[in-house]
Amino acid sequence: MVLKNEQDLVLMRPACQLAQTVLDEVCSFVQPGVTTRQIDEYAAGRIRGYGAKSAFLGYRKYPCHLCLSVNEQVVHGLATDNRLKFGDIISLDVGVVYNGFIGDTARTVAVGGCSVEAQRLMDVTEQSLYLGIAQAIPGKRVVDISRAVQRHVEGNGFSVVREFVGHGVGRSMHEEPQVPNFDDGKRSPKLVPGMTIAIEPMVNAGSRDVRILKDGWTVVTKDGQLSAHFEHTVLVTESEPEILTCGTKKPSTSKP
Ligand code: MF3
Ligand code: CO
Ligand code: CO
Repeated sequence: MVLKNEQDLVLMRPACQLAQTVLDEVCSFVQPGVTTRQIDEYAAGRIRGYGAKSAFLGYRKYPCHLCLSVNEQVVHGLATDNRLKFGDIISLDVGVVYNGFIGDTARTVAVGGCSVEAQRLMDVTEQSLYLGIAQAIPGKRVVDISRAVQRHVEGNGFSVVREFVGHGVGRSMHEEPQVPNFDDGKRSPKLVPGMTIAIEPMVNAGSRDVRILKDGWTVVTKDGQLSAHFEHTVLVTESEPEILTCGTKKPSTSKP
């Protein structure tokens, strides 16, 4: 586990804020008729324009600048030439490298609009993220985050994906510890100030089971039902958790 000091955070905060800024911009770009390849190209341009790099492109040979997962796709969806249509939902996951640090953040949005049940899936997933974040305080353990997410998701009749988990994040995209969205029964690290973790519930409307498409990347629900994904990079402090991917500051003014 790599703890971050104030000097690290001066560099990492802008990286995380930039990730959220790009995610906001990408979400605004989503509309019926757009292809996920166009979204990927748009994101590439924004990231480049800020003087940053995609943390995903080339990571284990991942071929896109962000992850774009439509409807039953859970995570790691690839850009394609298929057009989004009204009523789809799309999970967008943005990771950027800036100042040598990575910011990692994701959100699911409706394309134009969506069904009431799809909206409830997105709402419950986002709520579970914030309930998890609220547990990111010293003295608690990672499993307290996991349990808070799982309780809310399952209490609302949805299921939590087990094969993919949140993670420590910093100069590397995946650092210790793993942050599962369910209680895996293993001994769980204590949360201490200076930890930076990506909390990222992946929630299925139906069964929790997933499989990977032949493209080697795209994770889909086995039952073909919808899935949602929300993620923030969070700093554990002496007091309240700090959501680093809050996107309030303009990256150009906060570069040290
Ligand atoms: N952003 C993902 C995460 O939250 C990781 C994507 S890896 C990639 O952990 F290779 F698919 F980009
Ligand atoms: Co991510
Ligand atoms: Co992540």
